[in-house]
Amino acid sequence: MIKKMKLPHIPPYKTKMIEPVYFRSKKARSEKIKEVNFNLFNLHSDWVVIDLITDSGTGAMSEQQWAEIMLGDESYAGSESFFKLKKAVKKIMGFNLIAPTHQGRAAENVLFSATLKEGQVVPGNAHFDTTKGHIEFRKAKAVDCTIKEAFDTSTYHPFKGNIDIEKLENVIIKYGPETIPFIVITVTCNTVGGQPVSLENITKTKEIAKKYNIPVYMDIARYAENAYFIKIREAEYKEWSIKAIIKEMFRDIDVVWMSSKKDGLVNIGGFIALNNYELFEKLSQFTIIYEGFVTYGGMSGRSMGALAVGLKEACDFHYLEDRIGQVAYLGEKLKSFGIPIQEPTGGHALYIDAKKMLPQIPQSEFPAQLLAVELYIEAGIRGVEIGTLLADKDPKTGKERFPEMELLRLAIPRRVYSNAHMDYIAEAMKNVKNRAKELKKGLVIKKQAEILRHFTVELDRK
Ligand SMILES: Cc1ncc(COP(=O)(O)O)c(C=O)c1O
Repeated sequence: MIKKMKLPHIPPYKTKMIEPVYFRSKKARSEKIKEVNFNLFNLHSDWVVIDLITDSGTGAMSEQQWAEIMLGDESYAGSESFFKLKKAVKKIMGFNLIAPTHQGRAAENVLFSATLKEGQVVPGNAHFDTTKGHIEFRKAKAVDCTIKEAFDTSTYHPFKGNIDIEKLENVIIKYGPETIPFIVITVTCNTVGGQPVSLENITKTKEIAKKYNIPVYMDIARYAENAYFIKIREAEYKEWSIKAIIKEMFRDIDVVWMSSKKDGLVNIGGFIALNNYELFEKLSQFTIIYEGFVTYGGMSGRSMGALAVGLKEACDFHYLEDRIGQVAYLGEKLKSFGIPIQEPTGGHALYIDAKKMLPQIPQSEFPAQLLAVELYIEAGIRGVEIGTLLADKDPKTGKERFPEMELLRLAIPRRVYSNAHMDYIAEAMKNVKNRAKELKKGLVIKKQAEILRHFTVELDRK
């Protein structure tokens, strides 16, 4: 009898080109972080050993994408590469109209300029910071309706990105449907840990929206990762292909926008896609003012071509299994060292619970930022704070806002690092955990901007 041998998992790709990594001493890093005011955005990348600041635009492109770059049509109007992108969006997502933009927040700027006014309210699952920034910049209000389980890192819920349907309806009743220009569903929900939204929840959200005649928009930066979670965690869709799930996710959604730097598998780009021609004409005015002519919207022809290929590659089950499997692999390692993480692990990042790791540091002293600083000093790993710094002060009262969670996000770039890098990250985090009790004080702000302060803030040790 032939015995079936189980083979270990390997990534469905191999390396063709490499980038060097530079190593510095712990002492040098600890001087450098002070020099850059304890803001990791200020570090030159050659001072970083493993860069987990974001999964946005940091992925490696495939040979097919690079080939498409050589075919890029850089015509100002009517670029062939634009039509390749339009065709890919239609085929994968089912939308007829597309407005390219230079990245995700640019899509928010164009779309919200056409659809959002002062005093209006935008409910949804936890809005990403640029989304909230663009809403608040227009003196409108973002209301977070994410399920409560999302805010407890140790509770298991397969779809922590879900919207609390009862809360959503209460918000609609409280503010009145006429003040709500649209509801936003972000897939996956970055702010609560790259957590997915179930198809059941998307359907229920659409039903409520229909009841009150409110359009539903989707921020689809990580649409393919969300579809993968639906396939593996939502029993009804187990046998469905990723492509079929994606189509179902977007059925009857009014508008989607995307930062293509994530599941578009490109280094820059974004777009808005929809079927409503009237709204498309309206927003095209803003595309032209802010981004460029409607057939490139701030993107080069070659980037649009690479994106058309990337959108398709992102839907490959084996790619997604490897990608999300790598995040889960790191999650398991961290857990084995007793490091508190958001569970279950999400699609693109690990989120470490800084309140649990540094209980002695109050939120007013930015514990998650302190953890980011310490991990950098320890091993040259650059993560990002998702906590009080990111939350910004309340634009109305000017007071500090303390979010429920203080997280250190370690975002994993797509197709860049191996599991050996994941082992290095886990060991480094273990070392930080072992000396966490010695950290008696957090950080204080020396200088800050009013909106999206985390990018430029200057800090010091307290
Ligand atoms: C969910 C979500 N929406 C919007 C954006 C903004 O996109 P960009 O960085 O391309 O401007 C991001 C970026 O991280 C995101 O994660």
